[in-house]
Amino acid sequence: MPTPKLSQELKEEARRLYNQCLTEGYSPVGAGSGPSAVREAARRLDTNPTTFLNRLKRGKYTEQQTAIQLSQKSISKEPVTPQNTRVQRYSSVYPSGPYPDYDSFVVLPDWHVPFHNTEHLCCAREFVAIFKPTVIFLPGDIFDCYQLARFPKNPELLHKLQQDLDLAREQLELLRMSAPSAVIQYIQGNHEFRLRKYLWTKAPELSGLRDLDIRHQMRLEEQGIFYQEKPIRHKSLYVKHGNLIRTKGGYTARGELERNLITGVSGHSHRMGCSYMTTPNGVIKWYECGTLADIERLSDEYLEGQTPDWHPGFAYGYVNEQRCTVYLAEIVDGSVIYNGVSIHG
Ligand SMILES: [Fe+2]
Ligand SMILES: [Fe+2]
Repeated sequence: MPTPKLSQELKEEARRLYNQCLTEGYSPVGAGSGPSAVREAARRLDTNPTTFLNRLKRGKYTEQQTAIQLSQKSISKEPVTPQNTRVQRYSSVYPSGPYPDYDSFVVLPDWHVPFHNTEHLCCAREFVAIFKPTVIFLPGDIFDCYQLARFPKNPELLHKLQQDLDLAREQLELLRMSAPSAVIQYIQGNHEFRLRKYLWTKAPELSGLRDLDIRHQMRLEEQGIFYQEKPIRHKSLYVKHGNLIRTKGGYTARGELERNLITGVSGHSHRMGCSYMTTPNGVIKWYECGTLADIERLSDEYLEGQTPDWHPGFAYGYVNEQRCTVYLAEIVDGSVIYNGVSIHG
């Protein structure tokens, strides 16, 4: 491939960025206040910052290659919105396919921070970086809000509410870095609702305070994450946290399907399964898509010695106005298999 000609200005900018990346390094923890060169380069190259830096250190990107790639990527200054992102991202994936208006999506359910599974979240982020979804749905219970539960609680954890909120915000920042251009839709689950419910019952006078709200505590607006209190419909797909729990994998999916009578995805049950139904209007189906929580830790707190019938994983797929295809990605030994390749965190 012939080497493209670079303007002097671009060469200098690429060199500056390249050198900054090598000298500054990158720490995903507390990245909000960390060096920005790697994040900036990764954003321009449309990749994950960690992946970018690892490749840089392995000599995969030379200065000239980095400059060339930076020159070939357009830098969008537009804010991310549900309206502009599909066009921006997806047109290059299916330039002439039969369904050019498809959106790709990933559903990452039930992290339950601070009882999240770090390895599984890492795996999900790596999947996101590779799959490059147009939309990411977070269908609730991302934050556990353990301190505000009604049942008896571990006193050692009682004073860590702010710490847990900060941890959840950091995890969301890492996700955002894996998908700089994706629309992220965070749908409220029953665990996020605990904060509002607590204020309504114990201190209703404080419930109107701006900062006593999940959105502000996790700085969702700054990260371009949309927070929805209700289920949402995205084209022909319905996404909700879920308010049914049935005893076996697939049973909750059946219940949600019969209740909603539309193709959809939910979390809440922590199980994986699906159910299909043929109606006069065609086939509809529902998926319950597992959990990204640390199942052992979470069940220790909530199930009192029972063995949890919960499944680690998430969902992904494609959707347009007429059709929706969903796949369940089960996590085994910290990895999912996608396109025949094992993806680890
Ligand atoms: Fe949950
Ligand atoms: Fe839930």
